[in-house]
Amino acid sequence: MKKYLIETYGCQMNEHDSEKLAGILDNLHYIETSNITEADLVIFNTCCVRESAEFKVYGNLGHLKSIKKKNPDMIIAVCGCMMQQSSVVDLIKKKYNHVDLIFGTHNLHNFPQLLENCKQSDSMLVEVWEEEGEIVEGIPAIRKYDLKAFVNIMYGCNNFCTYCIVPYTRGRERSRSKSEIVSEISKLVTGSTKEITLLGQNVNSYGKTLEPNIEFADLLIEINRIEGLERIRFMTSHPKDISIRLIEAMRDCDKICEHIHLPVQSGSTKILKLMNRDYTKAQYLELIEVFKREIPNLSITTDIIVGFPGETEEDFEETLDLVKTVEFDAAYTFIYSIREGTPAAQLGDQISDEVKHERFNRLVSLLNDIANKKNKSLLGKVLDVLVEGKSKYDDTKLMGRTRTSKLVNFAASEGLIGHTVPVKITVAKTFSLNGELQIPL
Ligand code: 5AD
Ligand code: SF4
Repeated sequence: MKKYLIETYGCQMNEHDSEKLAGILDNLHYIETSNITEADLVIFNTCCVRESAEFKVYGNLGHLKSIKKKNPDMIIAVCGCMMQQSSVVDLIKKKYNHVDLIFGTHNLHNFPQLLENCKQSDSMLVEVWEEEGEIVEGIPAIRKYDLKAFVNIMYGCNNFCTYCIVPYTRGRERSRSKSEIVSEISKLVTGSTKEITLLGQNVNSYGKTLEPNIEFADLLIEINRIEGLERIRFMTSHPKDISIRLIEAMRDCDKICEHIHLPVQSGSTKILKLMNRDYTKAQYLELIEVFKREIPNLSITTDIIVGFPGETEEDFEETLDLVKTVEFDAAYTFIYSIREGTPAAQLGDQISDEVKHERFNRLVSLLNDIANKKNKSLLGKVLDVLVEGKSKYDDTKLMGRTRTSKLVNFAASEGLIGHTVPVKITVAKTFSLNGELQIPL
């Protein structure tokens, strides 16, 4: 049997695309290996949201050259967001000619044919569709976790935030039909899936391209009816598209977890305008007020970019102020990275690396203090934890997540994996909690 290894860079969307590639390869009777030297097929599923992600891919591609020398029959395929940029494809053709196959995000479903063609070809095969086609249903997937599954509800993005490359690599917004989504989840639930995460670049504009229109809140209400499903999560939400109906659905549907990931990007209204985010600092804070009022114990996470062009110390302090007001449970923090082809790359007043790093460190330190404080407020509370598996740090313990997405480690027998159990929080750290199981072992 042939062996494959897929290396995934970037977001959950990419992770799920890799699960689809794994599903396709399983149909072709390939098996997975974690040992790159014995792989017959290596796939890099790439991300280009920041320059650092691209550097990692180039570094690892370079490293593959010597491995392929020892195993000349190895097929190296590179796909994903980076390949949607012609400059990247040109560079790979020039500098990494040990690559055998290049394809993009829009023609992943053609992978079996591409692989076959590649095997017949002596030179590098490049097939990247510039435009998205119709949504292709029925691609098999081998999911990394049985218990928790990603489900795409839409693809692409129409927002064109000025720093972001995604609308250029993932194409325009298009939604999967409600019936396809519900049927996929219903099937997953007949297996061992208890939790699903609905994926889209901007889930709150789900349904706008469907006939008749359907709102994201309606999709959630329908999914909430699926028997056997325990938890519903979704990401990513854009603040400008949050509707009161969504907040009410989150409040009223028992399976929707008390967690919202709501990227703010900056606390400065001036910078938000330059980013084309379509909301002000005050509007974001008002929205958070409504969320907190309607959904007690809601956990709020975000994405923040530091050092966007033109960001002054005052602008950055607005971000710190917003972080203090909202008290995020966690945040993904990014140093602004110029992406060629985006409007922000053309802006003057790029911020120096030194200033970016200094601001980044101050922001992370504030976020960590807040995360720590919020976790401490959970001490003594008994929370429902969906047990995912053995703890990564101590294999005598298990780990799982609360509905608010907090990681909890606790002692219990492996038989509880896959079950939701009450755990009393006894230790609060910045990024995780320890607890004690509240039912007899
Ligand atoms: N530089 C830094 N961070 C970025 N992101 C997107 N584009 C860039 C960029 N050019 C961040 C945003 C987004 C997350 C997925 O990545 O915060 O929400
Ligand atoms: Fe990028 Fe903005 Fe679309 Fe998110 S909403 S994918 S940040 S353009």
